Amino acid sequence: EMGPLQTLFDETIANEQRIEPRDWMPDGYRRSLIRQIAQHAHSEIIGMQPEGNWLTRAPSLRRKAILMAKVQDEAGHGLYLYSAAETLGADRGDLTVQLIEGKQKYSSIFNYPTLTYADVGTIGWLVDGAAICNQVPLCRSSFGPYARAMIRVCKEESFHQRQGYELLMTMMRGTDEQRAMVQESVNRWWWPALMMFGPPDDESPNTEQSMKWGIKRHTNDELRQRFVDMSVPQAEALGVTFPDPELKWCPRREAHDFGEPDWAEFMAVLKGNGACNVERIANRRAAHEDGAWVREAATAFAAREKAAS
Ligand code: ACO
Repeated sequence: EMGPLQTLFDETIANEQRIEPRDWMPDGYRRSLIRQIAQHAHSEIIGMQPEGNWLTRAPSLRRKAILMAKVQDEAGHGLYLYSAAETLGADRGDLTVQLIEGKQKYSSIFNYPTLTYADVGTIGWLVDGAAICNQVPLCRSSFGPYARAMIRVCKEESFHQRQGYELLMTMMRGTDEQRAMVQESVNRWWWPALMMFGPPDDESPNTEQSMKWGIKRHTNDELRQRFVDMSVPQAEALGVTFPDPELKWCPRREAHDFGEPDWAEFMAVLKGNGACNVERIANRRAAHEDGAWVREAATAFAAREKAAS
């Protein structure tokens, strides 16, 4: 009889209190959280690749150290998130297998290539900026372990965003060629960054239920709007433009009007047909397979220690 448990769950959500791993929760709530947290974890881990691509070619020791620290932070975020998913009964090994078999998603944004060094700065500014915009409200997720993980993740993402912006600022103070490189990079990343927030609200199957459960706090379109409004003054300060002729301030709405992202492109990327999907998964698979002996050794060592104690 789930009646009283369901009532307790509903009251906990209504009172803005947290659901913790040992609490009763509806199966759908558990499933949707595992889905979202696993996708988020996969995004952090796959997200190491586009920037990792520039580690050996960073222009100075300082830039290399910053980039290395950032890529390591992303590994850390992935691990906190897999741990949060494990409190719901998921298994990290299974989730990884689902990722490399293409059964679980990761963010569309990481299927675009990093063609120039300016992309390192643009990813920090726009991609991590979009991530923060999406994730700060998730610090209020109704599920305790996820909400708590988001607090630390957001602090580190804020640092990433600033290092990206500072990198671009430095390039903008450089030569005409460097300024052109920044603008070209921003032109390529702007629309994919807007797609990170997910499909338009009327085509987002999960939003309504996730909002009721406190798993999502704002809709995809609300967060996209917030991101546009926050990015426009930052672009002005930097001295770049966004590749959207429809982008302009609307005094009536007190927000920016903007054009429609190419949703056909978004769907193609989700289906595995983006520029880098195949490469990203192949790399992840190779890392998983090459690391099998480490997992086996660690498991054997743990078993031996346990037997000895
Ligand atoms: N890339 C890949 N898949 C996406 C994207 C995207 N940008 N946006 C939406 N989707 C997927 C959804 O996961 C869902 O797929 P599923 O039902 O098979 O799981 C489908 O498209 C429909 O979208 P929605 O119904 O809108 O899905 P949802 O309510 O889960 O909202 C969102 C998507 C906003 C990404 C949400 O899951 C979320 O806030 N996740 C946590 C943050 C996150 O994962 N960030 C990762 C990128 S940031 C970073 O790592 C630096």
